Amino acid sequence: MKLLVIGSGGREHALAWRLAQSPRVQKVYVAPGNAGTALEDGVENLPLTAIEDLLTFALDEPIYATVVGPEVPLAAGVVDAFREKNLRIFGPTQAAAQLESSKDFAKRFMIRHNIPTAKFATFTKAQPAHAYVDAEGAPIVIKADGLAAGKGVVIASSSEEAHAAIDRMLSNKEGERVVIEEFIAGEEASFIVMADGVHALPLPTSQDHKRLLDGDQGPNTGGMGAYSPAPVVTPEIHARVMREIIMPTLAGMTRDGIPYSGFLYAGLMIKPDGTLKVLEFNCRMGDPETQPIMMRLKSDLVALVDAAIDGHLDKIEAEWDRRAALGVVMAAAGYPEDPRKNDAIRGLPKSTEDSHVFHAGTTTRDGKVVTQGGRVLCVTTLGDNVRAAQRRAYEVIDAISFDGMQYRRDIGHRAIGRKT
Ligand code: AMP
Ligand code: GLY
Repeated sequence: MKLLVIGSGGREHALAWRLAQSPRVQKVYVAPGNAGTALEDGVENLPLTAIEDLLTFALDEPIYATVVGPEVPLAAGVVDAFREKNLRIFGPTQAAAQLESSKDFAKRFMIRHNIPTAKFATFTKAQPAHAYVDAEGAPIVIKADGLAAGKGVVIASSSEEAHAAIDRMLSNKEGERVVIEEFIAGEEASFIVMADGVHALPLPTSQDHKRLLDGDQGPNTGGMGAYSPAPVVTPEIHARVMREIIMPTLAGMTRDGIPYSGFLYAGLMIKPDGTLKVLEFNCRMGDPETQPIMMRLKSDLVALVDAAIDGHLDKIEAEWDRRAALGVVMAAAGYPEDPRKNDAIRGLPKSTEDSHVFHAGTTTRDGKVVTQGGRVLCVTTLGDNVRAAQRRAYEVIDAISFDGMQYRRDIGHRAIGRKT
């Protein structure tokens, strides 16, 4: 059978790599893909991005099933378009994807269904938003409504910063909204499940590193590295997340008439006293969380996707490597503000049993692999624990270089530094 993966990042490389290993799969197309997917055994890039073109390709080929990586095509209705033509596709409909594409939708949904989240208010006009900030004080969180690729959130430590963020986000354009949210202190974790509308199959937990620099300093990014599992999610917290967040979310979406199928990502904040809050939902897998999670998957991913599309996730189990996995993102010069392109990448190693270099922003020029976007590579490794996986990742990185490369040297520090 032939499969299609939509997207071009490290997440899509990791998904396509695992799908291509299924004994049932002849070829995995990645649209549009990157230099890494082009080089992967059993994987081929397809220079298409428009939904109409993807649909025609999937019908003609024919493609057995499609997996959607990023949120943009989901929010644009790719799943609705494929399903209308009776094509098998794994992802939420446009209506269900609002859990990510509108923070206001997600917030109202959580309040309506008693899913724990930070206190909030939504504004379309600057003046009442400023008044709200004055009443609540700092620290406070200002979020642009809508997809913002991780750049629409300001954690304001002073009221002045909050006021400035409001003025920037509400520039008098029609339809603009900001969500203003209570600041919650705690440790973040990524909790991702596969959902089939009714049932959920939890993937291993993970933790991202959103800031550019070591010690969680510097600007926010799309994510500079991740590891799995995240020890902050103890077995007890895991059970509570399923009971208090994931299952009520699926039940709530069904009750609201928009059943959710696809990857569902709950970004959690876990307070020291064990209180759980949902910071955000994403309607897709995380990037870079996918890379370490896929590194640990031992089961056939096609069987899991099939069960999800058919609504049988309660009848299937997934097997995971008991080792820890860790991925370090190597980013381009100038990332995140103004990433430089076209730097030649040297020393890309062959993958081994315990290491794989997933590509994100890469392309091939004159037979050479060059940088093409902000996050360039994610060097992902396995080890008996997070510390061992970390050591292995930096060993692999030592061989790789490109001009202006930036990467953190402390990915995994929270797990390694834990006392328990
Ligand atoms: P979001 O895109 O909503 O996940 O926000 C991006 C990042 O901002 C999160 O990963 C957190 O690190 C931080 N953040 C968002 N909301 C809050 C909040 N209410 N309290 C504290 N930190 C937050
Ligand atoms: N790693 C965070 C995200 O994918 O949204």
